[in-house]
Amino acid sequence: MQTLFTNIKELLQIREASVAFVAGADMNILPAIKNAFLLVEEGRIAAFGSMESCPTLEGKEVVDATGKMLLPSWCDSHTHLVYAGNREEEFKDRINGLSYEEIANKGGGILNSAKTLQATSAESLYQQSKVRLEEVMRLGTGALEIKSGYGLTPEAELKMLRVIKRLQEETSIPIKATFLAAHALPEAFKSNKAGFLRKMLGEVLPVLKAEDLASAIDVFCETGYFSPEDTAEVLQAAQAYGLVPKIHVNQFNAIGGVAVGVQYNARSVDHLEILTDADVAVLQGSKTMPVALPGCSFFLGIPYTPARKIIAAGLPLALASDYNPGSAPSGNMNFIVSTACIHMKMTPEEAINAATINGAYAMELEQEVGSITVGKKANLILTKTLSSCTVLPYAFGSSNIEQVYINGKPL
Ligand code: NIG
Ligand code: FE
Repeated sequence: MQTLFTNIKELLQIREASVAFVAGADMNILPAIKNAFLLVEEGRIAAFGSMESCPTLEGKEVVDATGKMLLPSWCDSHTHLVYAGNREEEFKDRINGLSYEEIANKGGGILNSAKTLQATSAESLYQQSKVRLEEVMRLGTGALEIKSGYGLTPEAELKMLRVIKRLQEETSIPIKATFLAAHALPEAFKSNKAGFLRKMLGEVLPVLKAEDLASAIDVFCETGYFSPEDTAEVLQAAQAYGLVPKIHVNQFNAIGGVAVGVQYNARSVDHLEILTDADVAVLQGSKTMPVALPGCSFFLGIPYTPARKIIAAGLPLALASDYNPGSAPSGNMNFIVSTACIHMKMTPEEAINAATINGAYAMELEQEVGSITVGKKANLILTKTLSSCTVLPYAFGSSNIEQVYINGKPL
């Protein structure tokens, strides 16, 4: 089965297969072909180019894209999309003046979500999560990562991981599963952090391996949560299981976690709202992708990740939603791209690179998605009639998407 997109006003983000991510000044370049065609075969990009070299229309499903842009779908490398219930009461507490930290200290926050999740059946957790997954797919997300981390007991973590696996099996887009082994310290282990880590790692990792439940590991490295030493311990333990490190780090404080991430060859270091010159220096020359989560900064009113500083240092940057009930209850990547332009002063080209190819790299999917490249999945966004790609972030509250295509088929 072949689908042919014709008369595409601009085909955005065309890349050679050898490009794994883009960094520094190159992030401001978004390679495009004007008046283009794109051919899909068996769900993958088979050919593309200028309309002058367009193949014959015969025997193909033809989509006339006159006036419209076609680009790779969003690659959201950091979500906690599997969760139970929500935290709307804490939202009101924050409106009334409490900080995220104060709410967490009185038993709210991650512990609140864990309590709800532990009491929720796997079936209900799956159903609740599936609704969110379908919503973000309609908003243009064509690949994503989902973390556990709201279980906080081995049983509940495994329940989360099995729900993620079920979503992987039943969904047409690539989903990466990450075991967020150390997200918060539950009440029962308040003065026994070592015991908690031992239990989580000792009881979850062997089952995770046996059931193939995750490909990456994560830790929340932050004052009041887990230290750089704890982070090193978790990443060390995960090495034997071949799990790829990805860490939550520098959300509120810079405590040396970025260096630990780089030392363990983390695929990504995520958050980075607070970023020191030493952190930037340690990232230079590494293969670790910095990931910004502007939805979290927007929702909590905390600083935005300093994109200009990161890009000026020659580093790459990815954008992700952090979709979760506490700090970013939205998985809308269109909003993330807009917010990055408006508040982080990223150019539209930089933001689109960050939310496509660099996001794909951050979850080890750069061979599959993230650019218009022959052989990659035809997970695509067809926009409405637009004057330029700048309108995508500019018209921030509007839906600029006419149709999402997954494996070349309209969603
Ligand atoms: O990435 N920072 C740690 N974890 C999540 C939010 C956790 C929550 O508040 O539920 C995050 O922002
Ligand atoms: Fe997160």
